[in-house]
Amino acid sequence: MADRVAVVTGAGSGIGRAVVFGLAASGARVVAADLDDAAAAATAGAQDGIVAHQVDVGDAAAVDALRDRVLAEFGTPSIVVTAAGWDRTAPFVAATEEFARRVVDVNYLGHVWVARAFLPAMIEARGGALVTIASDAGRVGSSGETVYAGAKGGVIALTKSLARETARYGIRVNCVSPGPTDTPLFAAQAEPLKEALIKAIPFRRLARPEEVAAAVQFFASDAASFITGQVLSVSGGLTMAG
Ligand SMILES: NC(=O)c1ccc[n+]([C@@H]2O[C@H](COP(=O)([O-])OP(=O)(O)OC[C@H]3O[C@@H](n4cnc5c(N)ncnc54)[C@H](O)[C@@H]3O)[C@@H](O)[C@H]2O)c1
Repeated sequence: MADRVAVVTGAGSGIGRAVVFGLAASGARVVAADLDDAAAAATAGAQDGIVAHQVDVGDAAAVDALRDRVLAEFGTPSIVVTAAGWDRTAPFVAATEEFARRVVDVNYLGHVWVARAFLPAMIEARGGALVTIASDAGRVGSSGETVYAGAKGGVIALTKSLARETARYGIRVNCVSPGPTDTPLFAAQAEPLKEALIKAIPFRRLARPEEVAAAVQFFASDAASFITGQVLSVSGGLTMAG
């Protein structure tokens, strides 16, 4: 990854932060973008080669401003990772319009805006890797996370279609689909749901963020040079989707 430019959203916490640390440790220069300014700054301050940027991925203009800064200061990124995500567990019938729209804005359209912002430069550069973070909720469903699961299923289809559209330019687009992972997002879920999920995981524990980041690092690297349009679950065997 030496001297490659990488952009990671959701970089202030959990999986996104672990992705940033992994890419920076392998020599990439990383732009760590997050809604939470202080969290992005803390990620950037923890290791060399990382700069912070505040962004709401649900805001297309803000994502374009991130793109403008990255292109001006670092040039075209060869790695873009869309890890920002947000949800609250609740019965589907309790979803307000405001909640459902925010879930879709962050967990589906956020990926669309980031891909739309960076792909033109990557197409011009004839290469690069885009890695989306979906969720196994989007592959097999998840009770209490219905709108989120729909958005994540959309991310999987978006990934495959982008892979088809951009392969001719040498760009690879793949998706990492985490199962329950030990991050603040998971910790915020209801206690009975958390216990039931951990019991159902064949390894009987949560994923560590670093274990999800390892799959992202693989897709971003030259080791995955002939892989595009794929979805890889990192779930301790909880899901074994065909
Ligand atoms: N933790 C899990 O069990 C789990 C399971 C499956 C999928 N995921 C997915 O993994 C990704 C990372 O989640 P995590 O568990 O590390 O969560 P996390 O809450 O620890 O980190 C998510 C980060 O995204 C940021 N963020 C939220 N909304 C944003 C926005 N609009 N714009 C920019 N940044 C925003 C948050 O500030 C936070 O720093 C998400 O896409 C999530 O849906 C997580």
